Amino acid sequence: MQIILGITGGVAAYKSAELARLLANQGHRVRCILTEAGARFITPLTLTSLTGEPCYGSNPDQGEWRANPSIEHIELARWADLVVVAPATANMLGKTANGLATDLLSTVLLATRAQVLWAPAMNSGMWENPAVQANMARLLSFGHGIVEPGEGVLACGEEGTGKLADVASIAEAIRFHGTPKLRSLNGRKVLITSGPTREDLDPVRTLTNRSTGAMGIELARAFRDVGARVQLVLGGDLPAPWGVETVRVRSAQQMLQACEARWADSAGLVAAAAVADQRPEAPAPEKVKKVQGPESLALVRTPDILATLSSSRRSDQWVLGFAAESQNHLEQALSKLKAKGLDAVLVNDVQGGRAFGAQVNTLTPLTHQGQHPSLGPLSKDRLAQEVVQWWARQLEIRENAQLQVIQP
Ligand code: CTP
Repeated sequence: MQIILGITGGVAAYKSAELARLLANQGHRVRCILTEAGARFITPLTLTSLTGEPCYGSNPDQGEWRANPSIEHIELARWADLVVVAPATANMLGKTANGLATDLLSTVLLATRAQVLWAPAMNSGMWENPAVQANMARLLSFGHGIVEPGEGVLACGEEGTGKLADVASIAEAIRFHGTPKLRSLNGRKVLITSGPTREDLDPVRTLTNRSTGAMGIELARAFRDVGARVQLVLGGDLPAPWGVETVRVRSAQQMLQACEARWADSAGLVAAAAVADQRPEAPAPEKVKKVQGPESLALVRTPDILATLSSSRRSDQWVLGFAAESQNHLEQALSKLKAKGLDAVLVNDVQGGRAFGAQVNTLTPLTHQGQHPSLGPLSKDRLAQEVVQWWARQLEIRENAQLQVIQP
């Protein structure tokens, strides 16, 4: 993507350098526009060095500044696929919400047809001021996006809401706003299970497995990016992704309850969790001492979340499962597809611990029509995007087939 990073006056401007570098490392072309106040906190030279692109602003006297910016605002406005303002002051929000163009950045913001994204940062009193909130609401009503400011100790010493969102979240929001939305998934609620479950033996010991939850998190990001409203039910310790409603769970029973509470509202389910199939029959309330420890464990089955939700699904809901297999992959996966009543199963070869914690993975989709070409080997984030594109195509094929039946 071609991204304009607008930097207005605030201490958090130093974080914009990190954002510029992160975006450039992700393969984007990044051109920065500094306001005069922004240039008091960070120099054009820092930004050009990190992005390899010119830095723009209204003051031609400093370093890498571009002169004559008044001619360039239209060219820059057209060049951008996305304009992000980070940090954004109350002043810049107010100007743009009211159609004012008094410097290069506000002029570009007015002239561009690209998606605009705001990452505000200011004193909490200013942020909560009804005038600022009204301006922000107005910008959102124009279709602009926001990366909400966080809470904490602010530069002014006050504690409250107004801290610039962290750089990784801003980059996630840019990824979301920069991804085309897919008709068959846009606005639909998608429930995703991910991660390992943990079954306690006593307060310090658990039964679990080697899953990290990385693949389910990548799927949540990829479904989010194409417009799905993702609800992620997550086991394990990985951080929740930006822009995804996440419920943390520990045991299979908790995962089932969290899913059941959300299932009726969902268009579909993606069961990527590695659910522990057994749990200790009688977890001990206190730590079991070595001398009292049993020689063997009595285990009982945990609920099959995928099978339970699939058995109660309506005809308009779809269900995707995974099959982690180390042998006879397709045969085993086919029996899971049928036994659990799924629309598709994504077969994962886990022979020799492959896939768990690995950077690169391959998935083979299997539907009632048969085996589809494998997706991958790809990094988990690219693979998740491929899965989403593949599944959106299947949904469109289905919807078209249904339309043909209705209109013979
Ligand atoms: N699954 C589930 N709840 C369980 C077990 C599995 O929701 N208690 C889901 C997984 O998220 C996955 C699919 O079922 O989408 C298949 O999981 P897998 O571990 O491959 O198979 P199991 O059904 O557990 O069978 P087996 O361990 O015998 O292969």
